[in-house]
Order: sequence, then C-alpha cells, then structure tokens
Amino acid sequence: MDMTTPPRTVAVVLAGGSGERFGGNVPKQFTKLAGKLVIEHTVEIFQNHAQVDEIIVVARAADVDTVWNLARRGGWHKVSKVVCGGADRFGSTHSAVQALASAHGATRVLLHDAVRPLLTAPVIAACVEMLQTFEAVDVVIPSSDTLVVVNDNGCIASIPSRASMRRGQTPQGFRLATLRDAYARALKAGKRNFTCDCGVVRAMLPQVEVATVEGSETNIKITNQLDLFLAEKLIQCGGIQFAEASDEPGSLHGLKGKRIAIFGGNSGIGRAIHDLALLNGASVHVASRSSNGVDVGDLAGVQAWLHQLAADGPLDAVINTAAILIKKPFESMDAEELTRIVSTNYAGAVNVAFAARQHLAGSRGALLNFTSSSYTRGRAFYAVYSSTKSAVVNLTQALAEEWQDEGVRVNCINPERTRTPMRTEAFGTEPAGTLLEPATVAFSALTTVLSTHTGLIVDVRSPRAPMPA
Ligand code: CTP
Ligand code: MG
Repeated sequence: MDMTTPPRTVAVVLAGGSGERFGGNVPKQFTKLAGKLVIEHTVEIFQNHAQVDEIIVVARAADVDTVWNLARRGGWHKVSKVVCGGADRFGSTHSAVQALASAHGATRVLLHDAVRPLLTAPVIAACVEMLQTFEAVDVVIPSSDTLVVVNDNGCIASIPSRASMRRGQTPQGFRLATLRDAYARALKAGKRNFTCDCGVVRAMLPQVEVATVEGSETNIKITNQLDLFLAEKLIQCGGIQFAEASDEPGSLHGLKGKRIAIFGGNSGIGRAIHDLALLNGASVHVASRSSNGVDVGDLAGVQAWLHQLAADGPLDAVINTAAILIKKPFESMDAEELTRIVSTNYAGAVNVAFAARQHLAGSRGALLNFTSSSYTRGRAFYAVYSSTKSAVVNLTQALAEEWQDEGVRVNCINPERTRTPMRTEAFGTEPAGTLLEPATVAFSALTTVLSTHTGLIVDVRSPRAPMPA
C-alpha cells in the first residue's frame, strides 16, 4: 500500500457463540427478528455502509455453510471469509485476526457482535473517523443506573462516580497492527480471560489510548429473550430508518415505475397513499365500494379486479386500507353492522391476501395491511373493531412466515389516531394537533412497502411522540 491509498476498513461480525443465556434450538444470532435472522440484520448494516470495504464473519464450524448460504441469498458481496470461531470470544476474535494475516497493518478493523442488530450507520462512521487519530476506539453510552462494585460475598466494595462510568457496546475498532500486537502478547502471556477486545488492548498495550465514541441506547445486545422482544419493538417504531440507513432518508424514489393496487383508496389514508405514490412515479390503481364497486368482503370481486390489473403488467404491491370503525356498546349494534365490520375488516384482509398472493409471488412484491393500536388490547365499545384489527396483525405475521421463501413481504401499519373522514364520522371534530396527518401515515406505508423487511407491525406516531434515537 502506498501513502496515497487510504487504509481499508474490514468489519468482523462475531457470531461464534452458542447463546447459553438465551436458550432455544439455534444460537440466538440465527433466531428470527422482524422477518429476518438476527445475523442478517447485522451483516446488512455493514454490507450497506459505504465506508466498509470487506466483511469477515466468525461462526461456529457447524454454522459456516449456513452463513455462506445467507451471504449468497442476501447478495452480501463484501463477505470475503467465513471463519471458524473459538471456544471463547477471545478465540473467535483471534481467529479473525489470523484470517487477516496478510492484510496491511494500517487496515481498520471493526469487531462487532452479531447479536447487536440495531447498530446505526453514523456510529460506524464515527468509529472509522476516530481511527484516523487513535489506534483503538470503543463505542460506549452513559449509564443511567449507578454502577456498584461488589465483593465475592455480594457486599458493595465501592461505588464509582456515575459521571465517569460508561457501558461498553460494539463495534470496537482497531488499527490491525495494534490488535495483532495485543493478541500476540496475550497469547504469549497465556491470558485470554477478557470480556472484550478493548480489554485485551488495555491489558497488553497500556500505552495505547483507547478513544470512545457515543453509541446508542437502541444498539442493544440480544442476550436474553426479553432483548429480542425489545429489539422487535424498536424496529417496529422506527427500525426501518435504522436498518436501511444507507438509503437517503425520506426518499421514495424506489417507487418509480412500480405498479401498486390500493383497496379503500378513495379516501383517508388510502387516498393519501395514492397521491404520494403517484407523486413518486408509481402507477397506482384504486378500488373501493364508492369508486368502482369493489367490496373487499367479496372475494370474487377482489380476485376479478386484481386479475384485470395483472393483465396489464406485474403488481409490485397490494395495499389494503379498507376498514369500518363503529364505536358503541356491543349490544347496541345491529346485525348489519356486525356483519359489515367483520366482513370488511377481517374477511376483507383475508380475501385481499388470498387474491394477491399469486400476483405478488410473480413479482416478489409486498402486501401491506392496516391495524389500529387497539390490536394489543381489546377496548370497551370497540369490541368488534379492535378484535378484527388484532386478527389482521396475526394474519400479517403468519403470512409473512409462510411466504418468505417466495420473496413476498407482508407487513402491517399501525397508525396512531389519524385525521380521516372515517374518524371524523365516528368522533366528530377532535382538537387540532392531536391527530396524525394522512400524508405522514402514507409516507410510512410506502417506506415499508419499499423495505426488505417482512412480518413487521410498524407503529406510526405523531412527531411529538418521542421516538427511540
Ligand atoms: N461470540 C463468539 N465466539 C464465542 C463467544 C461469543 O463469536 N466463542 C460472539 C457471540 O456470537 C455474540 C458476541 O460474541 O455475537 C457477544 O457474546 P454473547 O452475547 O456472550 O453471546 P454468546 O456467548 O453466544 O451467549 P452466552 O454468553 O449467553 O452463551
Ligand atoms: Mg458469551
């Protein structure tokens, strides 16, 4: 390497653990999170990052072929090697260091836990930047809890000042020469009992300053089942922006030339999706009872309309916004109202999915449903409405799994209260500023349609509600 070539950056994804604390049939890095394996989320962050040149995955010997299959399926062309891990984390990192035996000492190496799938692109950029000045860098966050040091007997030995305490995350970045040196010295000294690689460098090369950059509360490590649940929730309320950070924020340019069918597209959220998709160059087709007599409760009608559309070209997305909201005591509903809600909200979702499958399988397209925040818990005076919305979520998750191998993505949008004609009819005029605008929901809906995720229930909140950052 001459002086003018900038050093390469290699990401090492450590996936050689067996996940004892997490449990389960497969190591936690191969467990499902929002429709993909945890390790797929993680590798794709580096695959999509402009400053990362190469990726090495460290896996248990039995998982090496699995990782290569994922790499092929995902088009991870930056993955150059999948190497065997060691019995402990030290052994796994050492394996990666050996795999880099012929690389230049100035190479930047970012070691990252495969089980931190919510790392964001700016943190990677900050590490790379810091390695211009420092030989080593750690990613840390402040601790809101006070940390205490305990003795063997469990009693407190000391309470360090919280202001100077940080919680260590990954990636941990090093110039390769420094990492090599630290590992060689540790091996020679017969030491391998370290919790992290910055620990190896601190112990073996005390003169090396290890810089820190601020990580993020959401860059969690999946250690226990609870962490997986949290990760799923974090992705649902904004994870798409995190996970696809390489894409320009706010861009819907991927819609250009896409053919989209919208049920219930004549008003409210459906109409807003129509307008926004059209603005971004998609070809958009709308069905509704009022505009062309298509009732989602009628399977034959839904099938006929989609067939007719598909005759002119493949369908890339089918979006179902059709729903009926009636709020009143259960016993005061009449038979017609009961049937209409179930038939539109639930049978409608089933019918649209059933009719759309064949078209979306051909195009590897996306189905998008809509639910309401009442899906998580039934609400008084909404019994039928909220239970149909719960069913839609369940349907979304099940179909996402069933259709994954065909490449059909199925997701569901869960908007907060939105200013729509349906809502005004049910609740009259509500205080200004308390409702989401249909255009905001439409933006999230179309972002979701373009994303590679499946099985997501995406929460859309008004900007005032805090989002995890
Ligand atoms: N890791 C590794 N090789 C090992 C041990 C751990 O590559 N021999 C990786 C894990 O796959 C994980 C990261 O290091 O991505 C963080 O480790 P941890 O959360 O402790 O994972 P496990 O060791 O798999 O879990 P446990 O300690 O509960 O068994
Ligand atoms: Mg471990």
